Amino acid sequence: MYLNERPGLADFAKAIVDWQKQHGRHHLPWQDTRDAYRIWLSEIMLQQTQVTTVIGYYERFLKRFPTISVLAEAEQDEVMPYWAGLGYYARARNLHRCAQELATNWGGQFPESPEQIATLPGIGRSTAAAIAAFAYGKRSPIMDGNVKRVFTRYFGIYGVSSLRATEQLLWKTAEEAVHAAPDTLDMAAYTQGLMDLGSDCCTRGKPDCARCPLQASCYANTHGVQSELPTPKPKKTSPQRECKMLILQRQDQILLEQQVSPGIWGGLWSLPQYGDVAALEVACTNWGQPCRESQKMAGLLHVFTHFKLHIEPWHVVCDGAVVAEPGPRQAWVPVTELGATALPAPVKKILSGLFAL
Ligand code: ADE
Ligand code: SF4
Repeated sequence: MYLNERPGLADFAKAIVDWQKQHGRHHLPWQDTRDAYRIWLSEIMLQQTQVTTVIGYYERFLKRFPTISVLAEAEQDEVMPYWAGLGYYARARNLHRCAQELATNWGGQFPESPEQIATLPGIGRSTAAAIAAFAYGKRSPIMDGNVKRVFTRYFGIYGVSSLRATEQLLWKTAEEAVHAAPDTLDMAAYTQGLMDLGSDCCTRGKPDCARCPLQASCYANTHGVQSELPTPKPKKTSPQRECKMLILQRQDQILLEQQVSPGIWGGLWSLPQYGDVAALEVACTNWGQPCRESQKMAGLLHVFTHFKLHIEPWHVVCDGAVVAEPGPRQAWVPVTELGATALPAPVKKILSGLFAL
């Protein structure tokens, strides 16, 4: 395939860089640094979480873990509270493992090549390229969700992106776009510009093509097929699960249970969960506490990527003697300490409805 076969390839990168410099984002906390550690942290946080949510978490995390070695030396239990509420907790566990690997095998520094960065835990090809571009100016293309939208529309690339062929064509096109650009290409501005364009103009719903620097040569815009690209995935209905959560209160303490990893909430402290009321009743009986319908609270729905969880909380306040001891992963936690405990988002929501966290 010849480079110039793709319409608009030669001007693509320049148009993005010029637009980024004028209209892109410039003063996000992780843009004022070339420290690969800070850039890496921001990229991992931003993978599944919006910029406005990330900022606070990012600053608190760096205050507590200012360098790779501080993070590497911490226990995983010390790290999790700084991630609680951001979701996708495997990211935090990998972050910690990655810091340890950098400390052990890389002298506490990030390697510079995107290929080497991509060998580290929790860092895929696109994130590795973004770190290498922002920290070291490396000419390596990214291809995250936002960027896929821009590429499929601009170059008219059809096909579900989970198919290998589509994925490969997207990466190949991204490589060609970088190769077709002059040697002086500002890789940090180009990389940030692609991300900014995807979240500012080339949005999921109705893209704002009138403000887009690519509009004149964009395939989707010139053919009026913005709504057909990217090719939508065939719809699957996500399975639904339900559970009962027990809020067992003994004076000003709540019984919490640390979740095992791997697992959706691995490392976090949750309320004990039961599949049905019968199992909940058995647990309450073991604690010497009767369980009544009046203790049932309003339910809530928590949406994960692969399923929906209906949660029915039961608030059981202990009266009389508590006859059992907490299990190996269980602990009585004072209500005043809940705010500083790594709780999954729906658990935090339930408990903040009952106590001031
Ligand atoms: N999403 C992923 N990386 C980002 C970045 N550097 N700036 C804004 N949003 C992002
Ligand atoms: Fe996306 Fe519209 Fe720009 Fe094309 S012109 S890249 S569809 S925003």
